[in-house]
Parts: sequence; C-alpha cells; structure tokens
Amino acid sequence: MPKVALITGIMGQDGAYLTRHLLNQGYIIWGARRRSSQDSQWRLEELGILGDVQLIDLDLLEMSNIIEAIRKTEPDEIYNLAAQSYVAVSFSQPVYTSQVNAISPTYLLESIRVINPKIKFYQASTSELYGHVFTRSQDEDTPFDPVSPYGISKQSAFWYVDNYRRSYGLFGCNGILFNHESPRRGEEFVTRKVTKYVGSYTENSPPLELGNLDAVRDWGHARDYVKGMWLMLQQEYPTDYVLATGTTHTIREMVELCFRVELNKDIEWSGEGKDEIGTILTGPNQRTRVVKVNPAFYRPSEVGYLCGDSSRAAYNLNWKREYTFKRLMSDMLRNDSYNPEAFKYGGSSDNE
Ligand code: NAP
Ligand code: GDD
Repeated sequence: MPKVALITGIMGQDGAYLTRHLLNQGYIIWGARRRSSQDSQWRLEELGILGDVQLIDLDLLEMSNIIEAIRKTEPDEIYNLAAQSYVAVSFSQPVYTSQVNAISPTYLLESIRVINPKIKFYQASTSELYGHVFTRSQDEDTPFDPVSPYGISKQSAFWYVDNYRRSYGLFGCNGILFNHESPRRGEEFVTRKVTKYVGSYTENSPPLELGNLDAVRDWGHARDYVKGMWLMLQQEYPTDYVLATGTTHTIREMVELCFRVELNKDIEWSGEGKDEIGTILTGPNQRTRVVKVNPAFYRPSEVGYLCGDSSRAAYNLNWKREYTFKRLMSDMLRNDSYNPEAFKYGGSSDNE
C-alpha cells in the first residue's frame, strides 16, 4: 500500500519540492492549501506535478478544516509547512503570525492525538529560534533566544511538538532548518530579490534597495532540505534535527557573487550604514550605482549570525547536502536570467 502524506503549505517553496520528492518515493499526496492560494500554484506547475496531487482547502486558522482534512485524507504522515514565513512581516503582524505559526500546529497535534495518534508529524521549525547566538555554530543543544515574533511563534510550536512527544508518545519531529532557497523562492526573501534584480539588470535599472548588508546566513538549497524532512519521519524514534550547510556568507558577499557570476562585474562599496552604496564599472572612469541601503528594510531586531551544525542529521539520517552556496546561487541566477548565454548550462537544475 502506498503511504499517504498530507502537506500543509503545499503551494510554498518547500511544499512544492517536498511533494516532488514524496511522489518519487511512491506516496499519495494530499495538498492542503487555503482557498486564496490559487495564484500560488505556479510552483507545482513549473515542477510539472500539479496534476499528480489531490488538493484540499484548508485554512490553518480553522480547526474544523484541520479535523476534516485529517478525517478525509487518512494520512500516514503530516508535514506542517504552512506558515506566515516572512520574518519582517511578523513585526507588523505579530498576532496573526502567532495564530498561524504557534496556535495552528497545536490544533494539528491535538487533532492527531484525538483522531489517529499513529500519524507521524513533521513541524517546520527554524534557525530563527536561535536569535542572538554566542556560539560559532548552532546544533540541537544550542539554547533558543528568538528575537522576532516569527521566531517566538515557531519556538512555541517547537515546544508543543516536544510536549506531545513526551506526554502522548506522538511521533513528532521538529526540523530546525537553516535558510534554504531555490529558483522557487518567494521574491520577498533576500536571495531571490537579488537574483531577480541581477538577472534582469540593464543600465537603466534603478539601484537595488536592501537593508542590513552585514547579516550572516547559512544558505542551502531547498531540494536538499526536503529530503531531510522526509528522512526524519522514516526513523524508528522521533527527535529534532538541524539541517544546515555549516558555511556562512554575508548579504554583501551574496550580492557580490551574483554580480560576478551573472554580469562579470565587481562591486565596489563606499559609505557607511544607511549611506552605503555599491557601484560597478560601466565605462572608462565611470561607475554606476547598483545597490543602495534603504533603512525601511532594517528590522526592529535582527538575527545577525547563523551557522548550523547538522552532525546529528548526518549521523542518524545519513543526510548530506549536495548544493554548495555557489551552485545554489548559480541555479537561481540561471532561472532569473534574461541573458541567453546563461542558459548554455541547460536552465535551472529543477528539471534534473
Ligand atoms: P513559503 O514559501 O512562504 O510557503 C508557506 C506556505 O504557507 C504558503 O503556501 C502559504 O499559502 C501557506 N500558508 C500561510 N498561511 C496559511 C494559512 N493560514 N493556512 C494555510 N496555509 C497557509 O515558505 P517556505 O519557504 O516553503 O517554508 C516552509 C516552512 O518552513 C514555513 O513554515 C517556514 O516558516 C519554514 N522554514 C523555512 C525556511 C526557509 O529558509 N525557506 C527555513 C526554516 C523554516 P499561500 O500560498 O496562500 O501564501
Ligand atoms: N528579505 C530581505 N529583504 N532581507 C534583507 C534585505 C531585503 O531587502 N536586505 C537585507 N536583508 C537581510 C535580513 O535583514 C536578514 O538578515 C537576511 O537578509 C535574510 O532575510 P530573509 O531572506 O528575509 O530571510 P530570514 O533569514 O529573515 O528568514 C528566512 O529564513 C528563516 C530561517 O533562518 C525565512 O525563510 C524564514 O521563514 C526562515 O525560518
């Protein structure tokens, strides 16, 4: 009998890649999406799998939707990927963020407990839990100190999973995933914002406006990370896992790499703080401004540094990432590039 998976947030980046991975494993997929998501089905379409999933309307804020979805689909595994996932927005919508990211996972856990406690549960947790970090790298034993409403909401869900595991023996795993990107990444996130800009850059483009250029992130490819999600639910015992690359880059370095790979241009930085700009050489003795800082993109409090240690996942799950940072960014640039030369590589690896 094929296994049945119910995926919330199926229209999001991870939902699309996870769906493809599970389909390849022979799963029957039920995708839960809110009714207003119909514009978001482009990811499943682009991966060529929209016709392979059964969709069910579900708003995570409606407990009755959750109960009906579980009763109707009778899943073996539930992957809770749906969330208000944009950290910056969580500062202006803290209550909504809490409802979707903290209360709804509790609805899901409670429904599993009552309807069928054998269902395995994956919770999309996050490196934002670490917040202000004081260690070179963060693993499952590093204390949490979230600094955003998003991080706080996800921390609450983390502890609910832990509590239902201890109290009721539910098979629940928190995947503490560090930033992961792809050509299917939402355009509000910084990597995609940069690859979209650089990929369509012309001499008439206005400068790219960014916030904190000095934040350090551990960026991997979503394709690698969804495999880890699945592996977590295939183990004999449930626990929590960090998935990360263990390598770090600043936003500034990521921007520099994109300009070099796509346009063969080196950025020169000048000025400081909100007055900082990045320029490229566009003629003899002529430099053009391509990046400027806009404080509107600063956050009230910021996670300045993240670097994950995924030794537990490597040891227990035999998980390893395949994409390097440079390959990830090249993959995104190829997808966003209007430069036909770039397609000599055969387009995005999404079609591999
Ligand atoms: P994403 O692209 O923003 O997808 C989130 C999905 O959740 C969207 O499809 C969205 O639906 C859906 N959603 C939001 N509110 C909902 C609600 N009330 N009811 C039902 N669905 C709702 O996020 P992602 O990058 O794939 O990330 C997946 C999960 O992993 C999220 O929980 C995120 O917080 C977490 N995470 C992501 C990363 C990362 O770097 N990508 C790292 C750590 C953790 P619409 O299509 O209607 O907007
Ligand atoms: N989005 C954005 N836009 N971020 C910017 C910008 C900008 O113009 N300029 C600088 N940044 C900085 C942010 O301040 C942050 O330090 C960093 O770039 C990354 O921002 P995002 O790409 O928005 O990602 P995030 O790290 O806040 O959150 C993502 O990763 C988390 C895991 O650590 C999201 O996917 C979360 O859902 C996820 O949990």
